[in-house]
Amino acid sequence: MSEALIDIKGVRHAYQTASGPLPVLDGLEVSVPEGGFVAVVGPSGCGKSTLTRLVAGLMKPDEGEVWLHGSKVTSPRSTVGMAFQNPVLLEWRSILKNVLLPLEIVPTKLSKAEGEDRARHLLKLVGLEGFEDKRPSELSGGMRQRASLCRALIHQPEVLILDEPFGALDAFTREDLWQIMHAVKAEEPFTGVLITHDLRESIFLADQVIVLSGRPARTQYVLDVAFEGPRTIDHLYTPEAAEMLNTLRHQIEIAQGRAPETTRRIFSVHDRLFLHWVF
Ligand SMILES: Nc1ncnc2c1ncn2[C@@H]1O[C@H](COP(=O)(O)OP(=O)(O)O)[C@@H](O)[C@H]1O
Ligand SMILES: [Mg+2]
Repeated sequence: MSEALIDIKGVRHAYQTASGPLPVLDGLEVSVPEGGFVAVVGPSGCGKSTLTRLVAGLMKPDEGEVWLHGSKVTSPRSTVGMAFQNPVLLEWRSILKNVLLPLEIVPTKLSKAEGEDRARHLLKLVGLEGFEDKRPSELSGGMRQRASLCRALIHQPEVLILDEPFGALDAFTREDLWQIMHAVKAEEPFTGVLITHDLRESIFLADQVIVLSGRPARTQYVLDVAFEGPRTIDHLYTPEAAEMLNTLRHQIEIAQGRAPETTRRIFSVHDRLFLHWVF
């Protein structure tokens, strides 16, 4: 038996569209152990968000299976927390009340007071202490995303799914959030799936990076992140990081159908030396 908390086995899926079926996933294999954090990268439109909907039970695959904590996913799961690129906070509720929203929707063992204590604790953990009574429009983009992270975690989900959550933020705010993510995970362990376009983000946050092929997506490449010890931004400037990023970049080029093999084959080493010498 597999130990995986999330197990996606041989998933195939096509959307029915006006112009016929659009195959999106074809042979997807993803396995995440309890407490693991997997990043999924791949070309735009290859099926990454579709994968997150399958894990959350928001849709069923045509073929294959999705398992969560030893049971097959057949309907929406409240034990999955989700955060997206656009935080979608409700303007008529305070930040605290936005974070508490899932507790009003999904069953919880927490009393009202416990829920509120937990929300305040999470907000403090992400550096939003003192902003509990503000409205979303009074916060910066990075702060709103931090609040949305607290909302995704409030009901102690078994799985946290992050679909390009930091994509709209500037580079420095994004790096701040990466560090906050590590601090949150240390205090509030979760099993995570992070969809991202940012390869640095993938190796900074995840312990494994899965590269999906172009649509219909299959699991094309799996990279185990080789950093040791607690991660700091400095890790991203090491030779190990450069090597991992290079590997991932190459895999993305293959997924996009513009692999260097094809371009490199145009000029051999001798051709290039010759061209260098001529020009
Ligand atoms: N509900 C839907 N009906 C039809 N096509 C869809 C639907 N959702 C997504 N698609 C299409 O399926 C493909 C994969 O979508 P998505 O999973 O959102 O990709 P990604 O998140 O990797 O960019 C895209 O071409 C998208 O246009
Ligand atoms: Mg998407």
